[in-house]
Parts: sequence; structure tokens; C-alpha cells
Amino acid sequence: MQQFDSGVSVTGSGSAKLETTLSNDDLSKIVETSDEWIATRTGIRQRHIAGPQDSLRSLAAEAAKNAIAMANLAPVDIDLIILATSTPDDLFGTASQVQVEIGAFRAAAFDLTAACSGFIFALVTAAQYIRTGVYKNIVVIGADLLSRWTDWGDRRTCVLFGDGAGAVVVQADQRDRLLGFELCSDGTLNHCLNLTYHSESQPLTGDITVHSGRFAPITMNGREVYRFAVSKVPEVIEKALFHAGLSTSDIRWLLLHQANQRILEAVAQRLQVPLERVISNMARHGNTSAASIPIALDEAVRDSRIQPGDIVASSGFGAGLTWGAAIFEWG
Ligand code: UT7
Repeated sequence: MQQFDSGVSVTGSGSAKLETTLSNDDLSKIVETSDEWIATRTGIRQRHIAGPQDSLRSLAAEAAKNAIAMANLAPVDIDLIILATSTPDDLFGTASQVQVEIGAFRAAAFDLTAACSGFIFALVTAAQYIRTGVYKNIVVIGADLLSRWTDWGDRRTCVLFGDGAGAVVVQADQRDRLLGFELCSDGTLNHCLNLTYHSESQPLTGDITVHSGRFAPITMNGREVYRFAVSKVPEVIEKALFHAGLSTSDIRWLLLHQANQRILEAVAQRLQVPLERVISNMARHGNTSAASIPIALDEAVRDSRIQPGDIVASSGFGAGLTWGAAIFEWG
């Protein structure tokens, strides 16, 4: 058993409220699709879309404030903010804008990008700072506005994604409640899911040419990503459980990245976790990338499904390709 300077607890959760919803019927007016196809193939009925007044900064800040309040802390108590996002307001980083918006003036802040696995990667990163005794109170945010980068003419992807933000507070604790984790990446499968930068040559002076351009909308090989998720997610959860000295029967809640209801059910079946222990908000939110796990966690905590002491097996997976799992005891 490894010894750490401090244990880690997840003590607060929060999410942002987005007013505008886009239904499957709305989408069927834009591309050739139907509520029936989307609902049966993905479980999604609607998704939320950020309004003109919203930004990644504002939604991430709202989620963070709610998580800090639940943890009974004040923003000035926060030592570090990690913002998992692939859709920042500013490519130089949005975390420090969130820092100022919530008034966490003592906190260092940085962005972390690992697509739909971003929240799990950020949670594990936060835990390392706490275990080494460097920081005591950290806010981990998962926030993405994929509507910014969706190709609204591509029915294979535009029906899947939504906007959202969720957050947790991670604190130093005498007891270590991050029971186990495992993180993985496989760049050989990078081509399956991309939001790529495309540049054009622009002669500058003499032999010097610069290459400037823009990011293109999301492209995905859905079938490949589906196959990857269904095979790798159960495996990574089992590895994280092994590190925790637990087995699948110890899982009270299975909290997966909300990519597709069929993936949630296939993973649960492989792990022999009953469906009533699977947290799903697919129908209402669609796939909100790094935000999906903390939003689903926050909803389940606030409606009292998740109780202090419950063991949560969480797993994110997506572009990179990246995937990971964290097993923690809530509260
Ligand atoms: O967050 C990152 C992780 N992402 C994921 O985990 C996504 C994983 N993949 C998936 O969830 C599924 O692959 C999708 C939901 C994306 C697609 O479901 P599928 O059952 O794998 O469908 P498919 O791509 O095999 O397409 C089946 C058919 C095709 O028609 P043909 O070629 O059989 O005639 C598609 O053109 O369904 C068609 N199709 C649609 N039809 C109506 C694809 N999208 C749509 C649509 N509406 N929106």
C-alpha cells in the first residue's frame, strides 16, 4: 500500500444551468434524421445549447461556485483550479478567467485537454497535488461547448453533442477516498475522432513562410469509437478496481462519460453491474464531452441518489484516443 502525505476526498459538486434545449425533432428540421433514430441508437432526446450570453468562462464559473458552496468553502480557500476543456474561450487558457470570475484570488489555474476523458485526467491530476501535500483545496471543472465545433450539416455527429459545465471540489483528508485509478492513451487511434487545425501557407518575407488557419469541425468514426469504448472501458475500470483492492460487486454507482446509452448498458453488462446502478442523463444532455461526468455526478448527488460513503466507479473515454477510470468514495 502506497503512503501519501495526505488523503483525497471529493466533497462538493456543481453544474451550470443552460436554458436553451435543442430537441431531436428540432434537429430533424436541419439534417435527415428522426427522433426515433437518435433515441434508439443513442438514448438522446435533447441537448442543451449555450446562449449568446454564455461563455465557457461563465458556465465553468457557475459550476465551480456551486461545487465550492456544497463543500462549505469560500472561493479564497481554493489553492488550484484545473479546467478540463477542449473548447476554451481562449487557446492560451480559460482557467485564469474562471479564477477571477469566482474570486479565487489565491488559486493557480490552468487548462487541461484530454477531450471526453478530460475530467477524469484532471481529477487524478488534482489528487497528486493533494497527496504530495502541496495543496489542500482544488476545484476540478469539466466544461465544453461542443456546439462551437459541431458540423451542423453532418447527421453522424451533430445529433450527439451538447454544451455544459460541471465541477467538483477535491480536498485533503485524513482518509484517502480516491481508491484507485488508471489512465490510458493510444495515439495510433487518433484519427478516429478529431477537431483538427488546418493551415494555409502565407509567405512572410524572403524564404520564410508562416502557416496560419483555423480549426475544422469535429469528425468521428462512430463505429470505431463505439468498439473502442465497449472493449476498453470495462478493462480500465477493472484495473482501477484492482488498484483499489475492490471488485465490481463493490460498485454502488457506475458513472461513465455520457456518450451513448448503448455504451453505458454494454459496459454495465460486461462488468455485471445492474442497470439501476448506472447513472445516465443521456436523454436530457447528450454528450457534453469533459462536462458529462461532473454534470451527471452533480445531478445524482443533488437528488440524493449518491449518498456519502457510496463507491462510485467513473470512467471517461474519447478523442486522443484517451480513456481512464477513477474509483472514489463520495463525500
Ligand atoms: O465522446 C466521445 C466518444 N464518442 C462515442 O463514444 C461515440 C461512439 N459511437 C456511437 O455512439 C455510435 O457509433 C453512433 C451513435 C455515432 C452511430 O451509431 P451506429 O449504430 O454506430 O450507426 P452507424 O454509424 O453504423 O450508421 C448506421 C446507419 C448509416 O446508414 P447506412 O450506411 O447503414 O445506410 C448512417 O448513415 O445510420 C445512418 N445514420 C443516421 N441516420 C439517421 C447515421 N447518423 C444518422 C442520423 N440519423 N443522425
